[in-house]
Amino acid sequence: MPIIRRYSLLATGLSSALLLAACDHKTSTSQEAATTKAPADSSATTTTSTDSAATNSKVASTATSASFGKTTDGVEVRLFDLTNAHGVKATITNYGGTLTSLLVPDKSGSLSDVILGFDNVSGYQSPAFRKSSPYFGALIGRYGNRIKGGKFTLDGKTYSLAKNNGPNTLHGGTVGFNQKVWAATPGVSADGPTLTLKYLSKDGEEGYPGNLNVTVVYTLTNDDALRIDYTATTDKATPINLTNHTYFNLDLSRSKDVLAHQVTLPADRYTVVDATLIPTGELKPVKGTPFDFTTPHAIGERIAQVPGGYDHNWVLNQASGQHSAATVYEPTSGRTMEVTTDQPGVQFYTGNFLDGTLTGKGGVVYGKHAGFCLETQHFPDSPNQPKFPSTVLKPGETYHTVTAYKFGVRK
Ligand code: GLA
Repeated sequence: MPIIRRYSLLATGLSSALLLAACDHKTSTSQEAATTKAPADSSATTTTSTDSAATNSKVASTATSASFGKTTDGVEVRLFDLTNAHGVKATITNYGGTLTSLLVPDKSGSLSDVILGFDNVSGYQSPAFRKSSPYFGALIGRYGNRIKGGKFTLDGKTYSLAKNNGPNTLHGGTVGFNQKVWAATPGVSADGPTLTLKYLSKDGEEGYPGNLNVTVVYTLTNDDALRIDYTATTDKATPINLTNHTYFNLDLSRSKDVLAHQVTLPADRYTVVDATLIPTGELKPVKGTPFDFTTPHAIGERIAQVPGGYDHNWVLNQASGQHSAATVYEPTSGRTMEVTTDQPGVQFYTGNFLDGTLTGKGGVVYGKHAGFCLETQHFPDSPNQPKFPSTVLKPGETYHTVTAYKFGVRK
């Protein structure tokens, strides 16, 4: 897989100097300059940057850490707050690398949470959560989306994976990256506060070949984008398709569903799927169908015409370079979200399987369509579809992709 480091000017709006610093991975410069304040208690730490070149403001960017409780295996996991110069705050736990909350302003400047999740790690491990398996906010790997029959052949060898979605493998298998405890290091880069997460997926884990070293960096940029950099290397050829499974509701404080959100997807085609949501191989034009989001449409406008709701991969018109994957506008709050990526596809999923059995932060019950996901990705089942862009990472190569979710308002 050809690996090119790509950063989004659109997404970050950085000056060229800052962009170069990011490309050169000189984020350590700011991290070195960062000061670590004495923790208020023994379980909390704060990393702060008041570098005015970085923040373009006197307000500090901070990354703080506190306990998020213990996993069912008794491992203590942490919660990290990344706060940028405008007070926008992303909260991430190292359990599954999960984004648990995201505070962004509405058109009146009032900050509120726009994603689904829980207040404690136990919410992500409850029997009800395991049963419905919604992957709230989590990092997904080693292979996001489905692999047909839990099997693929690579270099003449057939690999059998754990099947966890009817006859298929979904989102990495029975214990995907979303259930792993990642090594986490908060910091502050030139672009804003960061959280670096690392995980070694061992050779044979869930049936996949090769020791895969994964690093994911969340950066909350000072122009209000949450950027996710995914990097990986392997010692045996393996398919890889990393993504994030956050459920957004840009008016979560008022609305129980996302049907009024207006979505634009710059994609003239989508991958047609069979009854088990495996692509048939056909890339079908969206024109004249409820899948046409090339101009803005409310999610609810045509959803009744799509059995089950939207849960499909759109083939983005631009397949390489940093490009738009989606634009979302929520009229009541005025909030907007622009998703940019270097990936060829995006899974637009409208929370069809949420059924009111989960109660999240603030006692909110998550019913059908309570949130939507925009999972940037390679196409589902690519390991079995020779005509789809390859997802194979080989020894000596570096997998690196970037997706950014940038927030704003329309008044
Ligand atoms: C993805 C899949 C959906 C569903 C959700 C999690 O978006 O495409 O079918 O499995 O994850 O519930």
